[in-house]
Amino acid sequence: MAILITGGCGYIGSHTCLELIRAGYDIAVLDNYCNSKPEVLGRIRELAGRDFPFFPCDIRDEKALRAVFDAVPVQAVIHFAGLKAVGESVRDPLAYYDNNVGGTVTLCRVMQQAGCRCIVFSSSATVYGKDNPSPLREEMPVGRVENPYGRTKYIIETLLQDLCASDPAWSAMLLRYFNPIGAHESGRIGEDPAGIPNNLMPYIAQVAVGRLEQLSVFGNDYNTPDGTGVRDYIHVTDLARGHVAALAYALRHTGAEAVNLGTGKGCSVLELVHTFERVNGIPVQYRIAPRRPGDVDVCYADPAKAARLFGWRAEKTLDDMCRDSWRWQSLNPQGYDA
Ligand code: NAD
Ligand code: UFG
Repeated sequence: MAILITGGCGYIGSHTCLELIRAGYDIAVLDNYCNSKPEVLGRIRELAGRDFPFFPCDIRDEKALRAVFDAVPVQAVIHFAGLKAVGESVRDPLAYYDNNVGGTVTLCRVMQQAGCRCIVFSSSATVYGKDNPSPLREEMPVGRVENPYGRTKYIIETLLQDLCASDPAWSAMLLRYFNPIGAHESGRIGEDPAGIPNNLMPYIAQVAVGRLEQLSVFGNDYNTPDGTGVRDYIHVTDLARGHVAALAYALRHTGAEAVNLGTGKGCSVLELVHTFERVNGIPVQYRIAPRRPGDVDVCYADPAKAARLFGWRAEKTLDDMCRDSWRWQSLNPQGYDA
């Protein structure tokens, strides 16, 4: 039996493929390449020293999805496939509801028909909205979300809870990620955003490598020690290992569980910039710019539930994250296009 990884060619999915193989799982991967490149598959296989089945498939295509489940006996699904750009979701909500919500409905229907009822889902800390104070705990109220992207995550969490309530055989882990950064320590796989990056670390790395001129720090008048926004940055390899631990739990338990995957430590924008400069010995040009609409002052996890439920804790440091992001960016200045 294999673990099927939807969106396995993406940033978090590619790192999770490797950690699953390392942990001894057989995997199968599907992706429609709407935000990734085929090149990544060769690199995962190279790092894993092993082949695995890949299906170029869109999760909204029920027939194609059924063919995947016919070809591979699937024990559980780790579901990364989704669109994730907040601004784009405001401009084009239908694309987000169609891909993220519609795609998940189709996926779950095909899983059910195939007798596979175990799913690990990529949710986000964004479901906590603006009103809850950090550290964010899983039992806090969710759903007062600011944008269509975040609402699709909340809706999918609710959908999976309803599914588990309807049939006690279902098992769903709703993993609420904080801010994944870093890359595999080999520098062979990493984050390769299309166009100008929306997120802080890929922006810093592209300034450092000379692709972009200057970082804009969005606001220095937040209610934080240095005035810049505070987030819970987590190394993508730690995050990937969190999936392996969550999967093992999901395979032994039924029902829906929401679980934070974060470090529990906040770090400001300027702290991240200065850590990157110190660890890598590279200057990063920046200027202070106006606040970005929708941003919160502070957002970090209480990670205790993941430790209690499945024994997972983030282990890598901010220095590791900055070093590995830079190794990836400097070895692959144009990402997978090189
Ligand atoms: P990513 O864009 O790198 O990976 C997503 C992958 O899914 C891509 O390879 C894309 O081509 C594929 N995909 C999208 N729609 C698809 C479809 N309909 N059919 C098949 N494949 C499809 O993103 P990521 O950073 O690796 O994020 C993975 C998941 O985690 C996403 O669901 C995202 O919303 C969620 N998440 C990410 C972050 C983050 O900061 N990166 C934070 C919280 C949650
Ligand atoms: N920032 C800058 N300049 C930039 C980019 C970001 O100063 O060019 C700042 C932001 O204002 C924020 C911090 O860096 O204070 C982190 O911003 P990111 O865009 O990297 O991450 P966010 O915390 O805003 O968003 C992330 C995901 C979203 C998800 C959200 C949930 O990208 O998809 O976490 O908490 F919804």
